[in-house]
Amino acid sequence: MRSDQVRLNNGMTIPIIGMGTYSFENDINTTENAVQTALKMGYTHFDTAQIYGSEPALGNALGKAISNGLVEREDLFVTSKLWGSHHHDPVSALKQTLKRLGMEYLDMYLVHWPIRLKPWANHPLPEEEDFEKLDMETTWAGMEKCLEFGLCKGIGVSNLSCKKIENLLDFASVPPAVNQVEMHPMWRQKKLRDFCKDQRIHVSAYSAIGGPGNFWGSTAVVEDPIIQSIALKHKATPAQVALKWGISKGASVIVKSFNDKRLKENIGALDLNLEENDFLEIEKMEEKKIMRGDFYVNQTTSPYRTIQDLWDDEI
Ligand SMILES: NC(=O)c1ccc[n+]([C@@H]2O[C@H](COP(=O)([O-])OP(=O)(O)OC[C@H]3O[C@@H](n4cnc5c(N)ncnc54)[C@H](OP(=O)(O)O)[C@@H]3O)[C@@H](O)[C@H]2O)c1
Repeated sequence: MRSDQVRLNNGMTIPIIGMGTYSFENDINTTENAVQTALKMGYTHFDTAQIYGSEPALGNALGKAISNGLVEREDLFVTSKLWGSHHHDPVSALKQTLKRLGMEYLDMYLVHWPIRLKPWANHPLPEEEDFEKLDMETTWAGMEKCLEFGLCKGIGVSNLSCKKIENLLDFASVPPAVNQVEMHPMWRQKKLRDFCKDQRIHVSAYSAIGGPGNFWGSTAVVEDPIIQSIALKHKATPAQVALKWGISKGASVIVKSFNDKRLKENIGALDLNLEENDFLEIEKMEEKKIMRGDFYVNQTTSPYRTIQDLWDDEI
């Protein structure tokens, strides 16, 4: 196994750094160019989702690289996600995803959020009338069908608390291989990481540098004095410190940049060596969840009346 990959419970390996592709602007050329640049730098793991709108651009870039002989499909790890509007039929949702990507299979297909929406609610910020009753047992059975039909090599979840994973494991024939959640030095996910380790579920860290520049994100992680002083000591950057922290905790880190310099900087985190004391310093940082998911909570139609319900008090 290559040293920059970790083994999943289904025997697959996942590269420990992945390129995120969600951008608010969602410009197809910018996304495609950034993915092409990333491939040349050695990124092999790409994260997309139906709701990001980035599947066609990612697929174009990867397709061109494969036909130019730059990379082989087997050396790529492509993740996409099932949106709430398609919980009733993951197989047809995944077929549409594959069509947009121009691919025959996905490496990993994740249930994006534990929310189920009306079939036409195909936007990231649902209204009250868009929610339907969540039925994870049926949704997961559909995910298992995706696997059975060879549409993906692995299935997993995203944004699930320990309690929600425990419930899922009660009825799952195939356990999730991955739980993709927010994780960075300011939202360290100790309880979830320990739980997932016991269950042999790999934790993948999104917003791994806190999403600076995103409308939901924050510069708090990269501007934190502890992160900055560790970076200074190692002649590294704050983003590299945050990424290497996540990797050192056993996670694969998903970080988005469409900027050449920052793409290079981010993959350079693999070469950074953090010291024991750096980890102790990071433990002192105050914890704060950035992506709280307020838009998935309401008083009438959502299964979650409060943020605490959504995260089962793990917030
Ligand atoms: N499963 C989920 O629910 C979920 C939720 C959120 C995100 N995700 C996935 O995770 C990916 C990453 O998360 P994210 O985009 O929220 O947050 P992020 O990767 O932590 O931060 C991205 C932001 O940081 C900037 N940036 C990148 N590298 C930087 C560096 N070295 N120094 C300073 N700024 C830098 C980017 O701008 P530039 O492009 O200008 O560099 C962008 O504005 C997403 O793209 C998506 O694929 C999944």
